[in-house]
Order: sequence, then C-alpha cells, then structure tokens
Amino acid sequence: MCPHPFPLPKGEGITLPWGAEMHRCLAPLLSNGPAMQDTYVVSFNAPEIASAAQPGQFVMIKCGSGHQPLWRRPLSLHRVNRETGEVALLYALAGQGTRWLSSRRPGETVDVLGPLGHGFELPAERKSLLLVAGGRGIAPLAFLAEEALAQGCPVTLLHGAASASCLSDHATLPDGVRVVEATEDGSRGENGLATQVLPRLLPGKDLVYACGPMGMYRAMASLGLQVPVQVLVETPMACGFGGCYGCAVRTVHGIRLACKDGPCFRLDELMW
Ligand SMILES: Cc1cc2nc3c(=O)[nH]c(=O)nc-3n(C[C@H](O)[C@H](O)[C@H](O)COP(=O)(O)OP(=O)(O)OC[C@H]3O[C@@H](n4cnc5c(N)ncnc54)[C@H](O)[C@@H]3O)c2cc1C
Ligand code: FES
Repeated sequence: MCPHPFPLPKGEGITLPWGAEMHRCLAPLLSNGPAMQDTYVVSFNAPEIASAAQPGQFVMIKCGSGHQPLWRRPLSLHRVNRETGEVALLYALAGQGTRWLSSRRPGETVDVLGPLGHGFELPAERKSLLLVAGGRGIAPLAFLAEEALAQGCPVTLLHGAASASCLSDHATLPDGVRVVEATEDGSRGENGLATQVLPRLLPGKDLVYACGPMGMYRAMASLGLQVPVQVLVETPMACGFGGCYGCAVRTVHGIRLACKDGPCFRLDELMW
C-alpha cells in the first residue's frame, strides 16, 4: 500500500485539471553532498521531469519513509540536463525532511513529483537580466541563468547573504554568469543587503528576477523599480498541485495558490 495520502501512479504523466502534466518518479540518486553552510545539492535521474522542466518550477519530494513526515517537501529545480535526464536540487537543512534527504546516498531512490507550478517567463528576445538571490534563493536562479544564457541574454546574479559562510563558491552556476556578492556583515563582496546593492546594478538591465524571503521582496517593492520584476513565492505547501489550499497568496487579483498559479508572480501583483 502506498504510504502517501495521495496514492499517485509511478512513471506515467498525470494531467492536472488546468492542463499541466506532472510525473511521479522513483529516481535513482546520483550524488548528494554539501554545497555551502548547512546546504546540500542532491542530483538524481528523472528524464520525465527533466524533459518538461522550466526554470522557477519545483518538485515535491518524499522526505522520509512511511508516514514521517507525512507531506512531501517542495524544492526548486536548481539544475536540469534535459539530454541526460539529470535533475539537481539545492536545499538548506531546515528540519526533519531535509535532514532525512541529506542522509540519502547514491544508488538509493527518491520519490519525486514534478515538475510543478508556473515558472519564470523568459524574454522572447535578447534582454539583459539581473537575478537577485537571497541566501538559498540562488537554487532556482541557476537554472534560469542557464536557460537565459542559452538564449543569448547577458546575466548578472546578485547573491546576498548574512555572511561569507552562507555563500557558496558558485560552482553549480553555469559559465558566463557575472556574480556580485553582498553580505550583511561585509565578510565577502559588497557590504550590506542585496536590496541596498541592487539599485547600483540596475542601469542597463531590462528585467529583474528574484528568489528570497518575503522581506526581500517587500524591500524590492519599496524601491519602485522601473523594470518588470518576477519573484518566486515560497509559502509552506502540503500537496503542491492545487488540492489543499494551504499555499494561498494575497494578490491584486485576489487569493491565488502559490503551487498552481505561482510560485512565480510579478512583484507588483503581490499584496503586503
Ligand atoms: C515552491 C517552493 C520551492 C522551494 N525551494 C527550495 C529550495 O530550492 N531549496 C530550499 O532549501 N528550500 C526550498 N523551499 C523551502 C523548503 O520547502 C523547506 O525548507 C522545507 O519544506 C523544509 O522541510 P523540513 O522537513 O526539512 O523542515 P520542517 O521541519 O518542515 O520545517 C523546518 C522549518 O522550516 C520552515 N519552513 C518550512 N517550509 C518553509 C518555506 N516554504 N519557506 C520558509 N520556511 C519554511 C518551518 O516553518 C520550520 O521553521 C521551497 C519552498 C517552496 C514552497
Ligand atoms: S500546496 Fe496544496 S493547494 Fe498549494
């Protein structure tokens, strides 16, 4: 008997009521190890998810055996290789589920559902992009950077964190990204919050994409940026595909679900 509250078929695609297709994969784990302080990168083979994946989308991953923890955990797609079917996730050790995930070893399988949600909209033509990551918010921006670079868009990534120990060596970023770092204690890169550095990097950029805490988005909104800004909203999620209504977000259009209508929203759609 499937130990999960939603017994989902393995392998074949599951079409959601709004037309999106997700897959449940028992994916062989390829690697799993630390990337920066209390943060790991796990990679696994999931060709069905890789072939349909878009930057900004996420997977729901079963992080335990039996019923503990009951719900899958949402993690963003960090790197995707559509040719090999390899998918990588970058995750902070937050609690029970992510600690369990960090103990998995190559050769074991992980139970993954995805790709889920509406990801970032990439420009149809060549534009200059500024990506803003708050801490582990760098996870989905690596995949976005790779796709944008492949389309010929120059990419600058501003990575803000509390201190140097919370920044990686950016080894998992694609070649060609210009990286600017900012730390709140000044231990590496620019001294200050990413949102304080952002205005200096904005001239010449056409579009801004961000992933980080809501406080960072609120600060960005108060800057009154004159370019379109897309952000990923990471509310707690139980089901990940529109079934539990646990991920409600207040927007100017009314209540929206982060897992189904997002997690990508325009910054000016969000209500504080
Ligand atoms: C769409 C989406 C994408 C995400 N992508 C990533 C990612 O790429 N990398 C990553 O490290 N994390 C990501 N997260 C957050 C991640 O899902 C949580 O950290 C994880 O579920 C915690 O599970 P846990 O069992 O380890 O901790 P739990 O024991 O469930 O929780 C530990 C602590 O983390 C807090 N927490 C739980 N969920 C969230 C959340 N969504 N945001 C902030 N705090 C939370 C809890 O309140 C608690 O204080 C994402 C969340 C969403 C909704
Ligand atoms: S997480 Fe269940 S509706 Fe969004």
